[in-house]
Amino acid sequence: MRALVLAAGTGSRFKSQIPKPLHSIVGMPMIWHVLKTVRSVSPQSIAIVVGHEADRIKSFCGEEYIYFKQDNPKGGTGDAVLSAIDCWRDFDDYLLVINADTPLVLPDTISSMFRYVKLVKEYENKIISGLLLSANLPDPTGYGRVIKESVDRVIRIVEEKDATPQERAVNEVNSGVYLFYCPHLLETIFSLKPSPVTGEVYLTEVFEIMNKRGYEVRAYAASDPSEVLGVNTRWDMAIVENIARLRILQNIAKNGATIHQPESVWIEASVEVGSEVEIFPDVMIMGNTKISDRAIIGKGSIIYNSLIGEGSIIEPYSVIKDSTIKPGATVGPFAHIRSNSIIGENSHIGNFVEVKSSNIARGVFAKHLSYIGNATIEDSVNIGAGVVFANFDGRKKHECRVKQKAFIGSNSLIIAPLVIGEKAFIAGGSVINKDVPDRALAISRAPMKIKPESGHKKLNP
Ligand code: UD1
Ligand code: MG
Repeated sequence: MRALVLAAGTGSRFKSQIPKPLHSIVGMPMIWHVLKTVRSVSPQSIAIVVGHEADRIKSFCGEEYIYFKQDNPKGGTGDAVLSAIDCWRDFDDYLLVINADTPLVLPDTISSMFRYVKLVKEYENKIISGLLLSANLPDPTGYGRVIKESVDRVIRIVEEKDATPQERAVNEVNSGVYLFYCPHLLETIFSLKPSPVTGEVYLTEVFEIMNKRGYEVRAYAASDPSEVLGVNTRWDMAIVENIARLRILQNIAKNGATIHQPESVWIEASVEVGSEVEIFPDVMIMGNTKISDRAIIGKGSIIYNSLIGEGSIIEPYSVIKDSTIKPGATVGPFAHIRSNSIIGENSHIGNFVEVKSSNIARGVFAKHLSYIGNATIEDSVNIGAGVVFANFDGRKKHECRVKQKAFIGSNSLIIAPLVIGEKAFIAGGSVINKDVPDRALAISRAPMKIKPESGHKKLNP
């Protein structure tokens, strides 16, 4: 089998500057989903027809594909297949043709279609010239209707614009996924005529031509009708994206993770989720992220390009980006970890704490209202409530290092660059702008005064 993806159309119903195949469905462009499916059925070659915004589509898809240019992207799907004739004209087997706007088709379905043509050859001794994937949709509006003479034999496909009222009442639709026997496609494709309504050459008309010539043309029903959904408008895409999203969640659940209230959870296909993981409502997990076994992701948390270690707990409403949370660490609620930060084993980064470009070792506690930026924090350091690392002098970022078991009292300001020594003690409310030696106590605050009776006098002048 060879494969041909049709991606040259203008996508005018999408009303977008970005080409339709590059619009994102659960984090990846629509054409990425189609190509992933096509690759998984292992065709001998995969070609893509490009036209409208050809360079942008080529640069996303990359060099592993063969490209053909359709000079007139309004020429229609028949013209698109003709533009790529060099990839199939000399091939004595089947060509898979798939629209780039049909991202929910599953590899198993295409493999079954291929098995079906082989079985028909073996048991009925017939060559299927064209096999289309179809499904019965409760609302077939916008799709080509499949007109048949028996359960599987197709007479023709009629596009909605050309259909009679009776034909429009047919619920069986064409998905835009086909297998063509190349020698028969070659014999018939040149007979296609532009539609008098749109001027486009419809690939779908080839079924009628083949049928009239006595060739075998059939429909193969998709086991799950949602697979055939096509994306012509942004609302079509929203519906398709919802199905794609739920499929991802279903796979994650199958592998042994719990997802509470899945209708509110967004996890992209690129994310790896281990077993016994528990994910609460309103969570978003994106990009190149791995959630290791037994981690808990609390309600409303957002995680992007990060590694969450085994048994870590991400408390509700935390945001983690480009960072690593080591096993057994706890983050949140309402924490923000970002820019290549590392949170070490069994450390606790708590309420309203922001950690940026910092390496936090094991057993560190920073449980309330802190900003830790460009810092290296060694094992078992305690960072009190409201501690701020002032890492920016208006021009440059500077680094701090806090050695193991140091204690930084609440509301201290640590002005970088500096080093706080091992087991050093910073008294609460201090402004620290010099290195503090190991085991020393540093205190820098105005001495407290007690004036007897003055409080009472102030309140009762
Ligand atoms: C097409 C089918 C319709 C089917 C539906 C399924 C035709 C004539 N109609 O309609 O029967 O029910 O898909 O979703 O094929 N393209 C090109 N070059 C062109 C025009 C389109 O490469 O000149 C590509 C598009 O980029 C797109 C695909 O072909 O990926 C389908 O084109 P689209 O205009 O969306 O066809 P539909 O109207 O959806
Ligand atoms: Mg379409």
